[in-house]
Parts: sequence; C-alpha cells; structure tokens
Amino acid sequence: MSHLYTFMVGIHILGAIVGIGPTLFVYRMLKACENSDELVVTHKMIAKLNALSSIGFGLLFISGLVMGFLNRALFQSAWYLLAIALMVILAVYSSIFIEPKMKSMLKISMENKGKHIPVEYTELLRKISVSNIVEKSLIVMILVLMVFKPF
Ligand code: HEM
Repeated sequence: MSHLYTFMVGIHILGAIVGIGPTLFVYRMLKACENSDELVVTHKMIAKLNALSSIGFGLLFISGLVMGFLNRALFQSAWYLLAIALMVILAVYSSIFIEPKMKSMLKISMENKGKHIPVEYTELLRKISVSNIVEKSLIVMILVLMVFKPF
C-alpha cells in the first residue's frame, strides 16, 4: 500500500469521526430540552455541529473516491460501489427528510420563546426520530461494508 493511500485512509477515518459524531447525538440533545428557550440554544449548537459534520462527510466521500483512483480495482468491487450508492442515498435522504424538519423546528422554537414546547414541535421531533433511525441504519450499513468488504 502506498504512503498516499495510507494517508487517505487516515483522512477517511478522521472524516468519519467528524461526520458521524453529531448525527449520533442530535436527537438526544433535542429530547433533553425542557422548554423553548433551551430548544433555541440547542438548535443553534446543532446548526454549528452540522456544518462541521458536512465537512467531515465531504472529507469521507472525497478520500473514499481518491482511494478508488489510487487503486482502480476498487471500482470493480461491489462493496465499494454499493458504499458510494448508499452515501448518495444518505445525502439525498437527509436533505429531503431531515434538514427541512430541523428548519421548521428551529422556527417553531423561536416563535415560542419563553413558552412551553408546542405540540406541533413534539410531533416534528417524533418524526425526526424515525428519520434519524433511517440515517443511522444507512451509516451502519456503510460501516459494515467498509470493515468486512463482503463482496
Ligand atoms: C458512513 C460512511 C463511511 C464510513 C463510516 C467509512 C468508514 C471506513 C472505515 C472504518 C474504513 C477502514 C476499514 C478497514 O480498513 O478495515 C474504511 C475504509 C475505506 N473506505 Fe470507507 N467509510 C465510509 C464511506 C465510504 C465511501 C462512500 C467510500 C467510497 C467513495 C469509501 C471508501 C473506502 C475505501 C476505499 C477504504 C479502504 C479499504 C482498504 O483499502 O482496506 N468509504 N472506511
């Protein structure tokens, strides 16, 4: 294995930690909030973490592709091609099913500052918990492909 390839694996792992880390805690952080004021602060923190997470996922994807160009045989491996497909599905899924809900949730919590958490918000939080499970499942599937390279 070339030094550049090994370096790319290092960047890839770093990207995975930074990218996936926030995804694992977002729902728990929101669930822990007891009023709209806490929600506003938490949503702002999550927005900052999500920006970092996007950089991590970007690094993860680019380093994965660079490894493919360094070792062209990877483009003939099903696990590698499936990982690329799942990663694209993950990006599309979160931009359709998670990001718009997060924006609405921030808007609702801003509008209700100083008040109780409205039912409208709780309903969105319930829906986002399901989307979060789908998101985590996709990540676990990709991780299994990465570690076991089954086919
Ligand atoms: C959630 C997304 C991903 C995670 C958590 C992840 C994680 C990992 C981990 C932990 C390894 C080290 C595995 C080992 O050496 O046993 C690895 C290796 C690798 N990953 Fe990913 N990865 C992800 C997405 C991708 C994507 C989308 C691609 C392709 C564009 C990719 C391409 C690769 C390659 C080529 C290797 C090196 C395989 C080798 O030479 O042993 N990864 N990944």
